[in-house]
Amino acid sequence: MAELQRQYLKEMGIDVWQRRELAAAELPQQPVAVAQASESAAIIANSEPSIASTADVSTMEWGTLQRAVSACERCSLHSTRTQAVFGIGNQQASLLVVGEAPGGDEDRQGEPFVGRAGQLLNEMLRAIGLKRGEVYIANILKCRPPNNRDPKVDEVSRCGPYLKRQIALVQPAAVLAVGRIAAQNLLKSGERIGALRGREHQLPGTKIPLIATYHPAYLLRSPIEKRKAWQDLQQVRALITDKT
Ligand code: URA
Repeated sequence: MAELQRQYLKEMGIDVWQRRELAAAELPQQPVAVAQASESAAIIANSEPSIASTADVSTMEWGTLQRAVSACERCSLHSTRTQAVFGIGNQQASLLVVGEAPGGDEDRQGEPFVGRAGQLLNEMLRAIGLKRGEVYIANILKCRPPNNRDPKVDEVSRCGPYLKRQIALVQPAAVLAVGRIAAQNLLKSGERIGALRGREHQLPGTKIPLIATYHPAYLLRSPIEKRKAWQDLQQVRALITDKT
């Protein structure tokens, strides 16, 4: 194993010397409420909110879009947020990272992935040679759900046009969906994250390849899964190397 790769794995917290005897299929799986999972798999494309027109969002440029998100009252989350969390990074990035929704740290600071999960996300990106500032990072929801509960279908649907426009503006070579909520909603799938990761998808309605992987917050709780995340990240690396 090359020294550089060993270093990357170390940054991700993967112990390269430790043998893992347990096959992936034998590892304990997280319980999944399937009904809730498919309910939360709301559609981003072609599912515009019924009471709020999204026609303008689809043509907005960055500044207007960001102001629209800051002032957004399309769903009830606006009344509990400190601020909306728009997204951050390189607007011409090859890689777009999509997470679930702001947590407490993000709600306070106004930037996605700034807490402990964000630190790990930064390390994951570094592991494939990318600095945080080189990618674009956004979430399915722009506002924090109270107590970090799962996003509701209606919230995802109303917020969806913002992310859809961000994707259209960035035009990334690849999308990395981190976690079940991001993967299911982007892919319009009710499948569990363990089934969605490990293969290349296409973002519906586009030609953009999408890789799903575990959420860094989950990896903090289940570090044994970092090896699989590393495999996913290598797929991402190959995609953006191919296309840039
Ligand atoms: N988790 C997410 O999915 N997004 C964030 O911005 C922070 C934590």
